[in-house]
Amino acid sequence: MKSREMEQHDIAEVVAIEQAANQHPWSMKNFKDCLKAGHRAWVFINDQQELIGYTIVQQVVDEAHLLNICVKPSLQGQGIGRKILDHVIAFANSVSSVLIVLEVRRSNDRAQQLYSQAGFNEMSVRKDYYPAEQGREDAILMGMDLSFLV
Ligand SMILES: CC(C)(COP(=O)(O)OP(=O)(O)OC[C@H]1O[C@@H](n2cnc3c(N)ncnc32)[C@H](O)[C@@H]1OP(=O)(O)O)[C@@H](O)C(=O)NCCC(=O)NCCS
Repeated sequence: MKSREMEQHDIAEVVAIEQAANQHPWSMKNFKDCLKAGHRAWVFINDQQELIGYTIVQQVVDEAHLLNICVKPSLQGQGIGRKILDHVIAFANSVSSVLIVLEVRRSNDRAQQLYSQAGFNEMSVRKDYYPAEQGREDAILMGMDLSFLV
């Protein structure tokens, strides 16, 4: 699997994966705004030159905010999400971040498993943070402390 910076021409394909993988997907505008804002965004390409995942990170001073991470549904559960997360951790280290933070839906066990296994810890709960099928849903704020490395 190779990675490269996400470009404007990737967005249609990224949005198709986003819609297939999420009950509450980001819009095309969300992705365009991230690129416009200069957030770091990468796509991941397999040997068949297929776009199979992506991630977006907002660097705020010495903190990395993981805004989105996603793997094409047909290829989930094969270790790709972990590789993408490792890429984010390596990036955060390379720019001397002291912390990586992210929000995850309380119901998203799979993503929480991925983050916990990679070494993220629960920091707090943002009550009713997300819209849900019925009403609202809490966000779990998770973080990985990198300060001992810098
Ligand atoms: C979350 C996501 C990125 C994980 O990617 P993935 O490629 O499926 O994950 P991996 O195969 O690398 O698995 C990593 C860990 O996730 C957990 N996991 C993966 N598939 C799982 C499943 N079906 N059930 C429970 N946990 C699972 C496991 O802990 C796994 O580690 P293990 O295989 O050593 O047990 C992917 O499921 C996805 O794109 N989901 C939709 C978008 C999303 O929810 N993004 C996160 C928003 S916060």
